[in-house]
Order: sequence, then structure tokens, then C-alpha cells
Amino acid sequence: MSNEEIIQKIKQLKEKHDVVILAHNYQIPEVQDIADFLGDSLGLSIEASKTKAKIILFCGVKFMAETAAIICPDKTVLMPDENAGCPMANMITVRQLREMKKLYPKAKVVCYVNSTAAVKAESDICCTSANAIKVVNSIPKEDQIIFIPDKSLGDYVSKQTGREMILWNGYCPTHHRILAQNIINMKAKYPNAKVMVHPECTADVIELADVVLSTGGMIKYAKESPDKEFIVGTEIGLLYTLSKQNPDKKFYPATKLSDCPNMKLNTLEKILWSLEDMVYKVTVPEDIRVKAWNAIDKMLKISQ
Ligand code: 13P
Ligand code: SF4
Repeated sequence: MSNEEIIQKIKQLKEKHDVVILAHNYQIPEVQDIADFLGDSLGLSIEASKTKAKIILFCGVKFMAETAAIICPDKTVLMPDENAGCPMANMITVRQLREMKKLYPKAKVVCYVNSTAAVKAESDICCTSANAIKVVNSIPKEDQIIFIPDKSLGDYVSKQTGREMILWNGYCPTHHRILAQNIINMKAKYPNAKVMVHPECTADVIELADVVLSTGGMIKYAKESPDKEFIVGTEIGLLYTLSKQNPDKKFYPATKLSDCPNMKLNTLEKILWSLEDMVYKVTVPEDIRVKAWNAIDKMLKISQ
């Protein structure tokens, strides 16, 4: 079957079953193109909370689909590939978080959305890379903060807010492939380019950047900036949308090695099979869902 035929079938099934396709900015181009909404983790959560469709087909990784299932208990949430996980989300378990909370019983837990539903359920408030500073600033100054699981985002937010935080030792393997030397080399090659990096990058990479933004933030910044060239320090999937939306501007990946294999598991064929067989359903046990929803809802209330 050609891509055109697959796309036609997907469109028919979407209409028949009342499906909305939400896709993250790191998806492969064909998947980005078929999405009803393309965005960053925060934008996708907001979209899930607003959609009227009966079924959400989530093209991203598991924690994102789980977040949609937490926000929309009355909807069916599907993932085209059930193996699309996020290694960072698996770097902290509920047991480890409970031990940490025992060590700092008065601390508030700020949980990056790149985490499992069960870990969110044990947290006070969630955040994404787009609103982490705002979320941390919303916590009373006298409260201690445990920030999980991303130590790079936590370190960046701590420096920006001046809040000392207890950081967990998690990280994104894809963003940590971007080295300071890559940025230095690219800046030497393209001296007029603005450097945009994601806060999941290491501190030495962040120090070399002109701006530190979520993927949605980078899309907005590139569109509004008068600059014509950009060095992009995030997962390389974002380059597709950046180039498509700004044909007169040039975007260079800091390194082509910053490729997230999990984000690339979703394909047009798998989207079609998913809609044909109504797989793979993402569900969260109700007791965990309610607690995780509290942490997400607090975040959404201060972000919208
Ligand atoms: P955002 O799109 O929210 O910036 O997140 C990046 C990411 O790594 C998601 O897995
Ligand atoms: Fe997880 Fe990093 Fe992949 Fe995002 S890019 S899904 S944080 S491994």
C-alpha cells in the first residue's frame, strides 16, 4: 500500500470512530503531517483536556499517552506502538520516590511530566519544560523542593529561580548526546546563527545557548525572530517542523546523534493498524489516576 492509500484509510477510520490524532514535535515527518494537533508536552496535555473527540490516538511516548488518559478518563486513548517508552521516565520508581520523601518529609515534590503515572500520583505538582520555572515559583519560598526525575532541567530551573532543590539523578539520554563541543563547532561554522537548546541538555551546553526553550517555545521563537539561522540543540525530529514553517530560514542540528529511538517507533502503518484494531489502549488504575490528575491539574491551572 502506498503512503497515500494509508493516509486515505486513516482519514476514513478517524471520521468513522471520532478520533483526534495528537502528535509530539519529535515524530517522523509523515506522522507530524497527519496529526490534528502537533505540539510540546504542555500543548498536547492542554489539547487532550479540550478535545471533544471520543478517541485520542497519541503519537508520542507512553508518559504522554498516560497523561492524556489521566486527564480524560471518559475517552479511549490509543498508542500506535506500545513499546514507545521514555527511558528518563523509568529512572525513578515509586519506591525510590517514597524513600526520598521519607528523607525530606516536609518537601514538596515537583515532578517533570516525563514520569510514570504512579510517580505523578506520589507528587505534589507536575511541570513540563515549558512551565517548570513558573511551577517552581508557585511553591512558597519556605518549602523545600524535591525535583524529579530530570537533573538537567532541575539544575536549570534552580539557577533561574534561585531556589535550591533536591535533584533526582535522572536524565534524557538523547539530549545528553549533545555536547558543548558540538555547539562550539557549530558556532564556529555558522557564526550568525542563534543557538536554541532544550533544558534537558547538560549545564555546559545550556551555558553556550542564546535561548533555552521547550520544543513549542523553539517553534514560536524561530517564527518570531528576525534571525535567519539557528543551531538547534534538541531531538532532531523538531527540525522538520522548524524548516517547514520557516522556508526562508536555516536550521542546523547541534548534532545528528540527538535522535530519540522511542519517538521514532510510530509510523503511518502502525497508526492505521491501531485504528483498525483499536490498539494499544492506555489505561491508568483509578486510584492512581485520581492522585496523578491532582498533580497535573495544579500544573494546568497555573499554565493556561
Ligand atoms: P517538550 O516537547 O515538552 O519540550 O519535551 C521534550 C521531550 O523530551 C519530550 O519527551
Ligand atoms: Fe524521553 Fe528524551 Fe526521548 Fe523525550 S527525547 S521521550 S525525554 S528519551
